[in-house]
Amino acid sequence: MKCVDDFRLQLGKHELVPIVIGGMGVDISTAQLALEAARLGGVGHISDAMVPTVADRRFNTKFVKNKLAQYKFNVENQDKSVVRFDLGMLEEATRLHVGNAMQQKRGGGLVFINCMEKLTMNAPKETLRVRMRAALDAGIDGITLAAGLHLGSFSLIEDHPRFHDAKLGIIVSSLRALQLFLKKNGRSGRMPDYVVVEGPLAGGHLGFGMDWAEYDLASIFTEIRDWLKAEQLDIPLIPAGGIFTGGDAATYLEAGAGAVQVATRFTVTRECGLPEKVQQEYFKASEADIEVNQLSPTGYPMRMIKSCPAIGDSIRPNCEAYGYLLDAKGGCSYIDAYHKAHAENPGQRRVPVWEKTCLCTHMRNFDCWTCGHYTYRLKDTTHLRSDGSYQLLSAEHVFHDYQHSKGQSIALPRKEECLLAG
Ligand SMILES: Cc1cc2nc3c(=O)[nH]c(=O)nc-3n(C[C@H](O)[C@H](O)[C@H](O)COP(=O)(O)O)c2cc1C
Repeated sequence: MKCVDDFRLQLGKHELVPIVIGGMGVDISTAQLALEAARLGGVGHISDAMVPTVADRRFNTKFVKNKLAQYKFNVENQDKSVVRFDLGMLEEATRLHVGNAMQQKRGGGLVFINCMEKLTMNAPKETLRVRMRAALDAGIDGITLAAGLHLGSFSLIEDHPRFHDAKLGIIVSSLRALQLFLKKNGRSGRMPDYVVVEGPLAGGHLGFGMDWAEYDLASIFTEIRDWLKAEQLDIPLIPAGGIFTGGDAATYLEAGAGAVQVATRFTVTRECGLPEKVQQEYFKASEADIEVNQLSPTGYPMRMIKSCPAIGDSIRPNCEAYGYLLDAKGGCSYIDAYHKAHAENPGQRRVPVWEKTCLCTHMRNFDCWTCGHYTYRLKDTTHLRSDGSYQLLSAEHVFHDYQHSKGQSIALPRKEECLLAG
C-alpha cells in the first residue's frame, strides 16, 4: 500500500512533498501555517483577503482606522459607491503581509498566496491588479487564483517581471470552468503551472449551486484528468475537498494527481489563525451542526457551523472600514438585506438579518465559522482533555500524518500530559 511520501510534485525546478495547505481567509491560513508547510517541503498558502486589517493586527499599522476616518461621513448612507480603496495603501499592506512571510521562509517548499476574484472591493480589476503585483514584488512563490473564473487575471500581471518565474495556478470546480479559463487565457501565452480541482466537500465558498451534494470530487477529478491527457496538457492536477487521511491522498496520487490540497485538518493546529475558543467549536461540531447556506454576499454557497455568531446578527454594514465585497457599483447584498430587515421592523434598533451576513466583519472577527464537510471528524484526530476540551495539534504533526499514514489510519499526537512530563 502506497503513502503520500512515495510521490513528489515537480513544479519547475522544485521537487515537493505533494501536500498543499489551501488558502483560508481571513487570516486563518496564517504565515506561520504556510511557513510550516514550506519548511516541511510542501506548499503553504497565505491569503490576501482583507490584508489591511491583517497587517494592522500583525504590524501595528493603522490602515483600517485611516480608511474609516476618511469615509466616516458615509456610515449611515445605504449608498456605498464613494467608498474606495486607496491603491497605494493596498499595495503597502500586501507588501508587508507577503514580504514578512517570505523573509521567514525556510526549507525546500513554497509559499503561495490565495487571491479571490470575488473580493471585488468596489473596483474589481484595479484592486486585483494591485494585489497580485504587490505580492509578486514582495517575493511570493506563487499565486493561486480562487473564487471566480479569472478570465482576465493573468493579463493583469503579464508585463510583470516575475510573470514567468512565479508559479500561477487556478482553482476550478468543473471541466467547463477550466476550459473557459484556458480558452480566454490563451492569449497571455502562459499556461497555469497547476490546476486545483475543488469538490463540494471543501470549506469556504463552493463553486457549486445548492445542488452541491449531487457532485463528487472523484468524478470531476477523473473527467479533468482525462481531458488534460487527451489534450496533451501536462499540468499537475491537484484535487481538494474532503481529503481527510493520508490514504485518501495516496489514492488520488495513484490516480494521477500531482498533489492534494487540504485545509480542514489544519484548522485545529496551533499555527492556524482561528482563536482556540473557535477551534474547540470545530472539534465539537457534529455532522448535523454543519450546513451549506446562501448567507455569503458573494452569491456562492458557503459551508458553516450553524451556531456561529455571524448567522442572524444585526451589525450595520461596515464597508467604510472594510468594503471587500462591494461590487463594481459599490453594492453588496448584505447592505440590501440589512435595510430590508429594518424596513420590515420599523423603529427597532437592532434587527437580526437572516438573509445574508456581513462577511467582512464576521470573517475579520473569526465569527463566521466556515469549515469543510468533514470538520465533524476532527475530534477523531486528537485527544480529549480531562476538562472536556480537545488537544490542539501542531501543523507538523498533521502534515506528517498526511505524508506517512497509510489507508484510513490517522496518527494521534503525543498526549499533552506526556509532553508536560517531559
Ligand atoms: C476555514 C476555511 C477557510 C477557507 N477559505 C478559503 C479561501 O479564503 N479561499 C479559497 O480559495 N479557499 C478557501 N478554503 C478552501 C481550502 O483552501 C481548500 O481548498 C479546501 O477546504 C480543502 O478541503 P478540506 O478542507 O476538506 O481539506 C477554505 C477552507 C476552510 C476549511
